[in-house]
Order: sequence, then C-alpha cells, then structure tokens
Amino acid sequence: MRVAVYPGSFDPVTFGHLDILERATLIFDKVIMAVLENPGKAPLFTTDERVQLLRSSLTDQPRNERVEVGTFHGLTVDFATKVGATAIVRGLRAVSDFENEFQMALMNRRLAPQVHTVFLMTSFSNVFVSSSLIKEVCRFGGRVDDFVPPVCAEAMRHKFGHTT
Ligand code: PNS
Repeated sequence: MRVAVYPGSFDPVTFGHLDILERATLIFDKVIMAVLENPGKAPLFTTDERVQLLRSSLTDQPRNERVEVGTFHGLTVDFATKVGATAIVRGLRAVSDFENEFQMALMNRRLAPQVHTVFLMTSFSNVFVSSSLIKEVCRFGGRVDDFVPPVCAEAMRHKFGHTT
C-alpha cells in the first residue's frame, strides 16, 4: 500500500490544492492531507475550521475514498513516518515556488531519507492560485468563487464580514 502525506496550511484549501490531490490519488493508494496546526504566518482559520473546510471540499473529489485528513504539529517527516507514508506530495505552480520547495525537500530528505518528496504540477488554470492571494482578494471584497470551493468562499466572506 503506497501512502503519501500532502502537508500544508490549507488556509483555506483551494482548487489548486484539490488539483494536486486529484493527481496524487492517481499515484498513491492513500493520501493523507496533513493540516499544519501552527503555521508560521497567523492563519485566518483555526485548525478545526481548516479541517472542516477541507473535509467538506472533498465530497465531490474523485477517488476521495483514498483520502484522509489529519492534523500535525512539528516536522512533516515525523508525521509522515508515524503514519507509514513513503512520500510527501507538494504542488508546484511556478518557478517561484521551486527554490523554497527544493530547500524543504532536501532538508526533509536529510532528516528522513526513507521519505521521498514528489512534486506534482498543477494545471495551467491554477498556476496563480494561492491561499494568501485569495485571502487578500476576499478581504477587499473581490470575488473568489473561481479559486476555492463554495464552502471556503462563504467562510472567507463571513470571516471578513462581507454579507453576500
Ligand atoms: O501550505 P504551506 O504553508 O505552503 O505548507 C508548508 C508546510 C506545512 C509544508 C511546511 O511549512 C512544513 O512542512 N512545516 C512543518 C515543519 C517542517 O517540517 N518544516 C520543513 C523542514 S525543512
């Protein structure tokens, strides 16, 4: 059984994340979405809210029977080892993602050589989709429905005090 961990802040989950997840489930028997409890930047949503939004967003996800949602704190490789995963999945959008991801992958490999980082490319339509950009757009009243599942768009509007 090939198990992968897909770690992230998921604050909130976007169509970009779901795109990567869909690809990951073609490759792995089980993909554990691992929500980081204490991301460096203060999250908009609590851990519980991020998990709930993620779970709700998985309803229509292809091969969602292969997907689990968990939370973790500390190192991703420790979580991966604990759950028996041999891979960490990360999405790559543009060249700008690469440097940080490359550093993280090499450090993770140094920490846990048995866990391999697998980069998957998002589809072209999601190249510019990031949680932080979407939060900024929503904060100032922009429309985010094309970038996140409806539950996330609604929850963001609510957080930012937009009534519609
Ligand atoms: O969605 P994000 O914020 O880009 O995800 C970043 C994440 C959670 C993958 C990364 O910050 C992470 O793995 N954090 C846990 C601590 C850790 O293992 N750091 C990497 C060691 S090099």
